[in-house]
Amino acid sequence: MTQADGKLPIVVLISGNGSNLQALIDAAQQDGRFVIRGVISNRSDAAGLARANDAHIPTRVIEHTQFADRAAFDEALAREIDSFEPGLVVLAGFMRILTSDFVNHYAGRMINIHPSLLPAFQGLHTHRRALEAGVSEHGASVHFVTDELDGGPVVAQVRVAVRADDSESVLAERVLQREHELLPQVVNWFAEGTLQLRDHTVWLHGSPITAPVQC
Ligand code: GRF
Repeated sequence: MTQADGKLPIVVLISGNGSNLQALIDAAQQDGRFVIRGVISNRSDAAGLARANDAHIPTRVIEHTQFADRAAFDEALAREIDSFEPGLVVLAGFMRILTSDFVNHYAGRMINIHPSLLPAFQGLHTHRRALEAGVSEHGASVHFVTDELDGGPVVAQVRVAVRADDSESVLAERVLQREHELLPQVVNWFAEGTLQLRDHTVWLHGSPITAPVQC
């Protein structure tokens, strides 16, 4: 699974800006234990594609609108991912719901970053909903992907305080800055072999975790 240099090959899936992808590119170029083999977007206008190009990482666009149904899209996507032979698939702002077949194909080797303190605020518009709910803390989570949307076992989280005068965009930006620390950290754990999913339980540094690690 690893390369000759001992680094773990990964594939990153995006749909938009790709600031989390950028955090991974930067980490890989510094002392990351992983190498980004490919970046795949379901949108040709995703700004993150330029980030990959600038870093000389191969990109692919597979537009979901070109497929008859979700299963056909997911099959094409899986073919493209597997052509890169990754040890880990990272969903970094990839805005598609995936079929069970697809998710099961990558069981234990696909993670997602979600902008909330899961299990709170699964789904969309997390920052707005956090403000509406009046929570004092918000954040982001990285979890293994299972066929329960945003419901897979959580590995680690970052937390930020919600301020009285926060707008949705200000809060989103504060969370995003912390996402950029969280995601490379979790990918590095996986690449080192210190993070695994076994029977729906997250193992880190040789022990099962009973709660998400707070970063
Ligand atoms: C992030 O907030 C991530 O948690 C969510 O989508 C956003 C993607 O941002 N899944 P970017 O494209 O990485 O800038």
